[in-house]
Amino acid sequence: MSDETQPASPAERAVAELTATWSVEPDGVWVAPGRVNLIGEHVDYNGGRCLPMALTRVTAAAVRVRDDDRVRVSSDDPDAKPFEGRIGQLGPGCADGWAAYVAGTLWALREAGIEVPGLDIAVASDVPLGAGLSSSASLESAVAVAAAELAGRADEPALRHLMVQAAIRAENEVVGANTGGMDQTVAMLAEDGAALLIDTKDFSTGPVHLGLAEAGLQLLVIDTRVRHALADGQYGKRRADCEQAAAILGLQYLADATLADVERLADPQLRARARHVVTEVERVDRFVELVRAGRIAECGPLLDASHASLRDDYEVSAVELDTVVAAATGAGALGARMTGGGFGGSAIALVPTDAVPVVSHAVVRACQDRGLTVPGTLAVTSGAAARRAS
Ligand code: GLA
Repeated sequence: MSDETQPASPAERAVAELTATWSVEPDGVWVAPGRVNLIGEHVDYNGGRCLPMALTRVTAAAVRVRDDDRVRVSSDDPDAKPFEGRIGQLGPGCADGWAAYVAGTLWALREAGIEVPGLDIAVASDVPLGAGLSSSASLESAVAVAAAELAGRADEPALRHLMVQAAIRAENEVVGANTGGMDQTVAMLAEDGAALLIDTKDFSTGPVHLGLAEAGLQLLVIDTRVRHALADGQYGKRRADCEQAAAILGLQYLADATLADVERLADPQLRARARHVVTEVERVDRFVELVRAGRIAECGPLLDASHASLRDDYEVSAVELDTVVAAATGAGALGARMTGGGFGGSAIALVPTDAVPVVSHAVVRACQDRGLTVPGTLAVTSGAAARRAS
């Protein structure tokens, strides 16, 4: 229950929004998590392995089935304009901005054979927008689980995989962001209490229990509050570089290259991009080995190396990210790196629990000293996959 001191949950806010905007009561409320990626960055479109973790922060969708073919969508974010359309007319070009994620998901589900009916949808979220924590995949996934259940589909593994692919299609074909699928996969398939190892060759997944609390460690997210837009071109350029490097090497997946292959690339930029991908996948495997051996406290240098590779070889970091990563490790974090697409957004740090206040203070101070936007810090634990909330 909410009271005056406790802000309403996303689920409560979504219901309030549905009632206020469309004057209807929901048939149900569904939620889906944001994520942090622990390691394995910019490898999900290269057939590599990555290790994201679902957060307890969620996007909620309160949904009511209509008796006609209309779709109406609203958000309690005042910057998000409501959207209306006909279910059969959704598709590429039908919506822009935030509504494209919703309309695109409904369209892609129907393309996959799910008979989504007319719906009234209201959404609310506590996943920070543009922070590199996958607010977009959480929106797509909340809408997907709601629409599939209201279309009469039983929740089972095959449906979950179909919904992942639908959310990826929505993002690639309707939103126009050529993203790789890590975010949708973890939002749909995460296991509570664990990170999720994803092999993006076939999108097979398995839980990896981190044992952070047992090791006296806390995962800290540092939101630089500098926003990035994945659709703005840089992400697509990195992806194109990787495709070119793989083609030159005669490989389907760049993640399958060896370091010797990488050295054969004549173009220094392609060589650097490929080096990041190949070394990052090795770091993921080493990270998972250490965690499974109960040695997560030894993973810090892998985070640092991942950050350096993203900064120097892949060139997707930003001064704010470099500043908070250096400040965090300087103040006692065991390791730190940018997480997500880059160009702003968030970093993560692996921090001894008793050092969290010192590290949080240090990252704020470092940004203030350099005249940068003051970052926000958030101690996170793992959350569950997309689900019905009520
Ligand atoms: C974004 C994309 C993901 C992934 C990451 C980088 O979050 O949505 O598919 O490529 O960037 O690892």
